[in-house]
Amino acid sequence: MYARIFGCLLVLFGVRSSVCSLPCDYIDSLNITDGERLPNGDIRHNGVIYNKTYYREIDYEYEDFATKKYVPKYLRGCLCAVRICVRLCCGEHEYLGMRCTKTDDYLPITVNLSVTETADLRELPQFGFLYGKPCEQVYELVPEERPEDEWNLVRNGSLIIAGVHVIPRNKYCLAPRLNASYTSGLVCFMSNEEFKYNLYPVGKYQASHKGCVIPHN
Ligand SMILES: *[C@@H]1O[C@H](CO)[C@@H](O)[C@H](O)[C@H]1NC(C)=O
Ligand SMILES: *[C@@H]1O[C@H](CO)[C@@H](O)[C@H](O)[C@H]1NC(C)=O
Ligand SMILES: *[C@@H]1O[C@H](CO)[C@@H](O)[C@H](O)[C@H]1NC(C)=O
Ligand SMILES: *[C@@H]1O[C@H](CO)[C@@H](O)[C@H](O)[C@H]1NC(C)=O
Ligand SMILES: *[C@@H]1O[C@H](CO)[C@@H](O)[C@H](O)[C@H]1NC(C)=O
Repeated sequence: MYARIFGCLLVLFGVRSSVCSLPCDYIDSLNITDGERLPNGDIRHNGVIYNKTYYREIDYEYEDFATKKYVPKYLRGCLCAVRICVRLCCGEHEYLGMRCTKTDDYLPITVNLSVTETADLRELPQFGFLYGKPCEQVYELVPEERPEDEWNLVRNGSLIIAGVHVIPRNKYCLAPRLNASYTSGLVCFMSNEEFKYNLYPVGKYQASHKGCVIPHN
């Protein structure tokens, strides 16, 4: 907290810094520049309303969540502060084939929310989506072939494998597949080769990742 306030003061004194910008981790936010500005200053993007507490105009992005790059100013909103956020491995209108592929078809995000409840997350207003793999290398869960890969999503955004392994929201992503009744779950490889990076501007957020199976388009 004090580090942030100090950062903001540095900005006032002319030192370029962005530590007083996003009120959430970068990875939990998305570009909402093309959202609709409401008369009270809130922004509506993809049906989600962000008030001033939850969005900022910033001038940077993180390539692969690792490399900070300065870009023209744009608006980012903290989706995970206002919705249960679920990350899709591909883009909004993309399914996972050999790679992320565009389609005009409606792509439901059908998941098990418990042993007895299956739902299309697009139809549940408490959920919101982020896009892109959270790590470079992910592997796909295949419950059709391996019962120990069965998973469900809980209402705090974590994915639970076989009822026991809890995978938090930034360690997995979901991908609709064509003609499949369920959405695929893909989980980040936890490698022992630690690759640490600095994601959070103040330097608190660290994670490990490496490698990649979904090719970039
Ligand atoms: C944010 O979105 C706007 C509008 O879609 C786009 O023009 C801009 O390049 C985007 N900025 C970043 C950093 O993604
Ligand atoms: C923004 O919304 C949250 C709840 O969603 C509320 O607690 C907060 O007071 C709001 N902030 C402003 C500035 O309206
Ligand atoms: C969802 O539940 C059904 C019925 O129990 C099960 O057959 C299916 O494999 C589950 N889906 C996933 C992704 O685990
Ligand atoms: C989410 O819920 C699951 C099951 O209820 C729990 O085990 C897990 O710790 C929770 N995760 C977070 C990040 O709250
Ligand atoms: C699978 O998808 C293709 C292309 O969208 C479609 O032509 C075909 O009918 C679908 N098959 C089934 C079994 O749904």
